[in-house]
Amino acid sequence: MEILGIGAGYVGGPTMAMIADKCPEHRVTVVDINEEKIARWNSDNLPIYEPGLDELVQRVRGRNLFFSTDVDEGIRRADMIFVTVNTPTKSFGYGSGYASDLQYWELTARKIKENSDRPKIVIEKSTVPVRTAAAMERILHSESNGVNFEVLSSPEFMAEGTAVRDLNDPDRVLIGGRHDTETGRKAMDAVVDVFANWVPRERIICSNIWSAELSKLTANAFLAQRVSSINAISALCEKTEADVNEVALAIGMDDRIGSMFLKPSVGFGGSCFKKDLLSLVYLCESYGLTEQAEYWHQVVKMNEHQMERFAKRVINQMFNTLAGKRIVIMGCAFKADTGDTRESPGLTVARYLLDERADLVLSDPKALENARIDMADAPVRYIEDPYEAAQGAHALVVCTEWAQYRDLDFEAIYAAMNKPAFVFDGRNILKHEELFEIGFHVFPIGKKALTRFETS
Ligand code: NAD
Ligand code: UDX
Repeated sequence: MEILGIGAGYVGGPTMAMIADKCPEHRVTVVDINEEKIARWNSDNLPIYEPGLDELVQRVRGRNLFFSTDVDEGIRRADMIFVTVNTPTKSFGYGSGYASDLQYWELTARKIKENSDRPKIVIEKSTVPVRTAAAMERILHSESNGVNFEVLSSPEFMAEGTAVRDLNDPDRVLIGGRHDTETGRKAMDAVVDVFANWVPRERIICSNIWSAELSKLTANAFLAQRVSSINAISALCEKTEADVNEVALAIGMDDRIGSMFLKPSVGFGGSCFKKDLLSLVYLCESYGLTEQAEYWHQVVKMNEHQMERFAKRVINQMFNTLAGKRIVIMGCAFKADTGDTRESPGLTVARYLLDERADLVLSDPKALENARIDMADAPVRYIEDPYEAAQGAHALVVCTEWAQYRDLDFEAIYAAMNKPAFVFDGRNILKHEELFEIGFHVFPIGKKALTRFETS
């Protein structure tokens, strides 16, 4: 079978590489309109960083995985098409700031229609509002030339930083389609067969197409809600000397709650949570479900508040003046093990501190290439090495939970910094007592500050 992926981004690249690896009998092509991206997928300098991805791509590229900019030709050859184009938040017109911008999806559907002279299976992998497949079916079958398209929804649940692991061993694969027609059932079976090459059958679940679309938005909303919930509690901990890590441990041991996604933080980032929550809010509003829209909106608002609250703490604790002080943002990636900076809390905090005219240094082991693009308008410096970044600094502000930050030589860093030296740990990853012993003033999230000063 010829399998095509349209959109060679964070989802399309790794997902199609995994399918190629697990299904050597199929030929897999990934196309994108972005020439530079495709050139990088065809080089040793892949456009995204993911643990294990280089090895995976090297194993299959040129064997049964191919990257190309020829979208039309890719479609003509394909029997099965996975669509993984971006669906960002709309930034204009009706629904601006909330609704999903489906222009890339719609363009793709039109391209598929133009270049098809035989039946094809089209699978939405992009995250879309519920009932998007109906619109796509209408486009594909408009002025029909007799070609039948089966549109299915198989949302992707992988997370960045663990994409290869998640794709290799997914909790579940969800395939939504039409059980009520013969061609619909056949299409679902064909997609199930692809994943059954490596995913145990009991973890491949089939549903109706609308449930599949809605499950993706719902999963991200629930995950984001947990982070906002623990972050809301972190603020209360800071007022009461309760320790949010102890609270998270205590509640997480209740099987009904579970221990995952209870890590307090400077806030959640990434290209999905905020976008998908806002899409859910818009969807509820558009069906007249105002209370439900407000409920989910609060998860986003709590997150924005957490990032602002964290930045304000930095300002307040440093005597309400940052002008000219060298401050190091440790971590520009939105989470560890990725170079992705989309909606990164580190860069959001950086903007707040820049408003105070801090002399900012951005540091990160993998994300400086993207940070330079995002912060191109800002007067900041980029220094990858934390030791060099900390020279003469007044404060370290940890925004990403990179494992290597835990074991830095903080004695040496302290010696090189301006005094009093501050650490704001927006991920609670450092050894706070040890830092305090060295001489730092330490401000974790949701825990008592360790400082020789009066706290406010
Ligand atoms: P991305 O921006 O990294 O990649 C999308 C790619 O699609 C881009 O390279 C873009 O050039 C390409 N593209 C756009 N229009 C095109 C067209 N007409 N023809 C060919 N290529 C086109 O986005 P992403 O992070 O991979 O996300 C893609 C989708 O998957 C989104 O809907 C997102 O919500 C969803 N998703 C993302 C993640 C994640 O972790 N990033 C996880 C699950 C689901
Ligand atoms: C998310 C979903 O997890 C994934 O299933 C979906 O397919 C895409 O969206 P991703 O955004 O890549 O994945 O990363 P995720 O691990 O969910 O983290 C999102 C943000 O929440 C990060 O900024 C992370 O640091 C933060 N987070 C996560 C916390 O602050 N605390 C936690 O306990 C967990």
